[in-house]
Amino acid sequence: MKTQVAVLSVVSELYPFVKTGGLADVAGSLPPFLKAEGIAITSLIPGYRQVMTKLAETTEIHHFPDLFGGPAWLRRATVGSLDLIVLDAPHLYDRDGTPYLTPEGEDWPDNPFRFAALSAAGAAMGLGEVEAFRPDIVHAHDWQAGLTPAYMHYRMGERGRAATIMTVHNLAFQGQYAPELLGPLGLPPDAMGVDGVEYYGGIGFLKAGLQFADRITTVSPKYAEEIATSQGGMGIGGLLRDRIGELQGILNGIDEAVWDPSTDALIAAKFDRLHIKPRRINKVSLQRRVGLREDPDALLLGLVSRLTWQKGIDMVLDALPLILGTGAQVAFIGQGDRAMERAVRDAVTAYPGRVGCVIGYDEELGHLMQAGADALLLPSRFEPCGLTQLYALRYGAIPVVARVGGLSDTVIDVNEMARAEGIGTGIQFHPPTVEMLESAALRVASLWRKPALWRRIQRNGMRTDVSWRRSARLYAELYRELADPALSRALSA
Ligand code: ADP
Ligand code: GLC
Repeated sequence: MKTQVAVLSVVSELYPFVKTGGLADVAGSLPPFLKAEGIAITSLIPGYRQVMTKLAETTEIHHFPDLFGGPAWLRRATVGSLDLIVLDAPHLYDRDGTPYLTPEGEDWPDNPFRFAALSAAGAAMGLGEVEAFRPDIVHAHDWQAGLTPAYMHYRMGERGRAATIMTVHNLAFQGQYAPELLGPLGLPPDAMGVDGVEYYGGIGFLKAGLQFADRITTVSPKYAEEIATSQGGMGIGGLLRDRIGELQGILNGIDEAVWDPSTDALIAAKFDRLHIKPRRINKVSLQRRVGLREDPDALLLGLVSRLTWQKGIDMVLDALPLILGTGAQVAFIGQGDRAMERAVRDAVTAYPGRVGCVIGYDEELGHLMQAGADALLLPSRFEPCGLTQLYALRYGAIPVVARVGGLSDTVIDVNEMARAEGIGTGIQFHPPTVEMLESAALRVASLWRKPALWRRIQRNGMRTDVSWRRSARLYAELYRELADPALSRALSA
């Protein structure tokens, strides 16, 4: 029997309590897979209003008399297979809006303190200051948890500290704030240096995490390579290159219970690899919901995505004349940049019945898209991992992806070699430009005219292992290695 390792995951969103993107899916679906490996994960999340209202019973395990301007409590709860500790800090989290934005779509002005508080609470546990829970490992996710390893470094006392891991889900979001916040954030003056939290003259939350964590991971092997280059490093590639020996890419998996077309209650008709026909019912239902002409024979290309530059939505809009020229329909479900939302709406007006959209965040429609679209478009300019192509594989929507980051690691292009071996699962194109997207759209349209081949590609995708099994083992190995007592002694020295 392997010894139990206790991990504290510090994370700003977690499905099904609060979700704005893939981070929540990952944080919510990985822990159960690690139980089998002898790893017990407890997740620390902010007690946003939407989280507190979903929790019935909690046990108070700690009280902070003043956490950045008000009292706060750590409350423990177990919900299904998830062990949670919620940071209940009403002055920071009890409000409408999203975890990061006001109802008007602006960043919360006190975001540095909201997420410093999350990090400080994680650090308190990592430093052994919370009697009820002393983890062996503290695992911080993205910039919101980036100060955790830094606080642990600067505040370490005699008790030593847990080992730390920083996972990058997206290097584009770094949490950069004015240098004047150093004192108010509770960081010592000597932290303001290149070996500390300083980043381009300000304070970098993600930089701090990358600087001080014992190990760094990101969410696909290809993205791990990309971010250690000057081109893909988004200003921080130098630090990542210096730490390349401690940087590892571990591919995301999916929750196969939530994303299973044979049991999914959110779709119009259930189906599986051997009974794929009901997809047509889902397609018509999707067409109706997004305002497309109802036609089960039309090729339907779908997108379900944050509407941002990263995701290449503008390229799809530019390619629309050619795409629609092939006879295909295009459906968007998404929200994000206001200008991009407007541009999508304009396209719907320009091409009624052939382009459809729902602007907003709608979990149910996200499922219907996977079950009803024939192909899922992902022309991302960069993509740390991407989960929607994994859902697409499982639901028989053929992914059409830019060959970057995790998209490159998870979709097998149906080139001649793959076709000969019968292993292709989608279409890849490179570089992510309008022209290459257009030629990929032509390839999709030509595949669509070969139903037997189309079906084979769909089946290959539906057979692909997109679960957490392999990656959970890699995380477990990493945790166990870091929890080794000899190493912990060295960290405390
Ligand atoms: P990212 O985290 O960069 O947004 P991922 O592909 O990792 O990208 O994860 C996105 C997640 O958010 C998926 O679960 C996807 O279905 C979901 N999603 C994105 N936009 C929407 C939307 N407008 N409505 C419903 N679900 C969405
Ligand atoms: C980020 C990335 C996405 C990844 C997700 C979960 O939001 O943009 O590619 O899948 O995190 O790791």
